[in-house]
Amino acid sequence: MRPKVAIAAVSLLSATVLVAGCGGGGSGSKSSDASAGASARGPITFVTGKDNSGLMPNIAKTWNASHPNEKVTIKQQSDQADQQLSDLEQHFQAKDPGYDVVTTDVVWSAEFAAKGWIVPLTGKYALDTSALLKPTVDAASYNGTLYAAPYASDGGLLYYRKDLVPTAPTTWSQLISDCQGKTTPGTITGSKPGCYAGQFFKYEGLTVNAAEAINSAKGQIVKPDGKTPDVNTADAATGLNFLVNGFKQGYIPKEALGFKETESLNAFQAGQLMFMRNWPYADAILAGKGSKVAGKFGIAPLPGPDGQGASSLGGHSVAISTYSKYKATDLDFLKFMESNEIQSYNLVQGSAAPVLSALYTDPKLVAKFPYLPVLLKSISTAVPRPVTPFYPAVTEAIETNVYAALQGKTSVESALKSLQDAITSATAG
Ligand code: GLC
Repeated sequence: MRPKVAIAAVSLLSATVLVAGCGGGGSGSKSSDASAGASARGPITFVTGKDNSGLMPNIAKTWNASHPNEKVTIKQQSDQADQQLSDLEQHFQAKDPGYDVVTTDVVWSAEFAAKGWIVPLTGKYALDTSALLKPTVDAASYNGTLYAAPYASDGGLLYYRKDLVPTAPTTWSQLISDCQGKTTPGTITGSKPGCYAGQFFKYEGLTVNAAEAINSAKGQIVKPDGKTPDVNTADAATGLNFLVNGFKQGYIPKEALGFKETESLNAFQAGQLMFMRNWPYADAILAGKGSKVAGKFGIAPLPGPDGQGASSLGGHSVAISTYSKYKATDLDFLKFMESNEIQSYNLVQGSAAPVLSALYTDPKLVAKFPYLPVLLKSISTAVPRPVTPFYPAVTEAIETNVYAALQGKTSVESALKSLQDAITSATAG
């Protein structure tokens, strides 16, 4: 059980957080949409992905109590990254003033910024980012300008059944041998659990999992410039083979071809998996009421071929829509969302990875969440996904080719070759 943070503690938001950033004027942007409403205040809507941890109602309540004329309404989207993105794209294209503040996945900021859909956080909108983890600031920036307030970071972790294996495997071959005799190969519905699953359905989570396998094997999808493809290599093949062989040999159950975060978490929570790759938010749910594995699981770094593997950088930031009418309120809401109080609340109640560096070394928090140093390392060494305004086309290419390989419809070699070609044409514009 997690200790409860009294919401009163959250209500004790410092006045500075709540009143900072008042004042009007233009944003300095050339776009008249972007500067419209720069000093205006009023009720706003915050659009965000499905609130899996159930924390949003309290967060909104706290904000609303001190902002009676600037109340926030929460609009929850689906729990699937791709659907969240297309919902945002449609509303931005329609210049919808009803989407005031939006959650942006780290991989969407470049597209939103390049299209002028979100307000650059410069001039009157400047945010102090000195207390934040650098990867979260970089991920919310485009061409050197900050476009969103980092809100939650994310790093991949290995969840393991410590009642079945006393210590977590650090390599893929250890993971596979740990499963021998203790799991049912190929399925989660046998008398013993399935061995390993991550997120292998054809969507953004597959890009994350494929990138982690490839990066763990010292391969890369694109070069460090963020766009030149470099995936048709022996190292990338070693990485992808870990997943493809998993389905062939049965250490990844066939059901996992349909797993997004929620399905993998549900299977692990029901005792149907020995190992699972997931984000930190899973901890609070697995440790909570109704979980069959509460008290029976541990959290460790992702394994790799010869030792610790590499995580993809995940996470979300909060951005102001260019089309919002109440941007002064929006800016205060951004500051509220990355305040110490909200960040601590999200960690303690929802095991969400904070963006404030200090929380990772706070002795009381480390005592409650012993994996915080592991998570910090996972985030600090995480590999960003390609940074390009054409990201939707790049991720679609990864998802399509990797999924075909996982299904056994194409070989690893031809999947990587066709992925290399597809990224080349996607990034050509
Ligand atoms: C998590 C991550 C996000 C990623 C998504 C994939 O929400 O924070 O960055 O794109 O999972 O499903």
